Amino acid sequence: MLDITAALREDPRADHVPAAARADGNLPLPHLYERVARHVTPAEWPLIAREVEAIERLKRTHNAVILGHNYQAPEIFNTVADIVGDSLALAREAVNVDADIIVMAGVHFMAETAKLLNPSKTVLIPDATAGCSLAESITAADIRLLKQLYPGVPVVTYVNTSAEVKAESDYCCTSGNAVKVVRAVAKERGVDRILMLPDEYLARNVQKEVPEIELIAWKGHCEVHERFTPQDIRDLREAHPGVVVLAHPECPPEVVAEADYAGSTAGMSDYVRDEKPGRVVLITECSMADNVSVQYPDIEFVRPCNLCPHMRRITLSAIRRSLETMTQQVEIDPAIADRARASVERMLAIR
Ligand code: 13P
Ligand code: SF4
Repeated sequence: MLDITAALREDPRADHVPAAARADGNLPLPHLYERVARHVTPAEWPLIAREVEAIERLKRTHNAVILGHNYQAPEIFNTVADIVGDSLALAREAVNVDADIIVMAGVHFMAETAKLLNPSKTVLIPDATAGCSLAESITAADIRLLKQLYPGVPVVTYVNTSAEVKAESDYCCTSGNAVKVVRAVAKERGVDRILMLPDEYLARNVQKEVPEIELIAWKGHCEVHERFTPQDIRDLREAHPGVVVLAHPECPPEVVAEADYAGSTAGMSDYVRDEKPGRVVLITECSMADNVSVQYPDIEFVRPCNLCPHMRRITLSAIRRSLETMTQQVEIDPAIADRARASVERMLAIR
């Protein structure tokens, strides 16, 4: 996880800033512009910088912190987000946040998770309609029915679900810890069958790692990752010889089988940091490559682009309005929250 505030204090990377931007000494917040110069033109920047300044003022006034998911647009991820990371890192960080207000620059289930872990804090989601096709794919009633069909089989649900669904679950998991959680649950509960919901592809990808446990899956899919095909990967390899392919485990297993590595958004970011491939492609939401590439100007990122329409609902102006009006506040029925929190806490307890 990158601490943006610390990184900004000493960001030496000006060499990849377009010459036009460097030539214009009048650009506001030049130290931040350097971080987004590949995606924002000098002409666009003054308006964006005004929003950034307004948000920074509001953050100070309200003692607010912004958590930003790795899929956020570069002008959010690289400027106003105080803490950035994958779903697991944001869930963990939500526990340690020393602020009165948490703004989730991410999608609704992420804001709910932050609220579950910080019941006394105000948690804001700048656009309450920022959903997720996986979270939409299953309801609490579905889980209750599955529990009747599979009595005694523990339920592990992906963090990409509503609080109501988490409340019906035994454990939560993320793409970053799914294998570890499934192994721990099998051991703790003494079982060799687990309901792993709702992402069919994540379950099938995890299944390959844990042949000793039978995972019963659901038919939920991520609308971004399900669009990648094995042929896409073969075409990318042909068009970009030597490219290292990193895929998110929400991709179909046939796609993951063609990749060199599969992992969460943080896992992919860490792979780039540790292995420094000369040429790489991230088979995931396309803002991810925009954000990771800022840190590695010498690595060539091949960029097929599948955008998550839900993540795109979060904009700088939506964040500013959210802090100005203290909306949309995330509220969870306490009866649901207690049980949902327990499933998230059981996950966080697994190390
Ligand atoms: P990560 O947990 O890997 O950040 O993924 C969240 C997500 O929504 C992926 O589509
Ligand atoms: Fe949901 Fe897919 Fe968007 Fe992630 S990328 S938030 S799983 S729809």
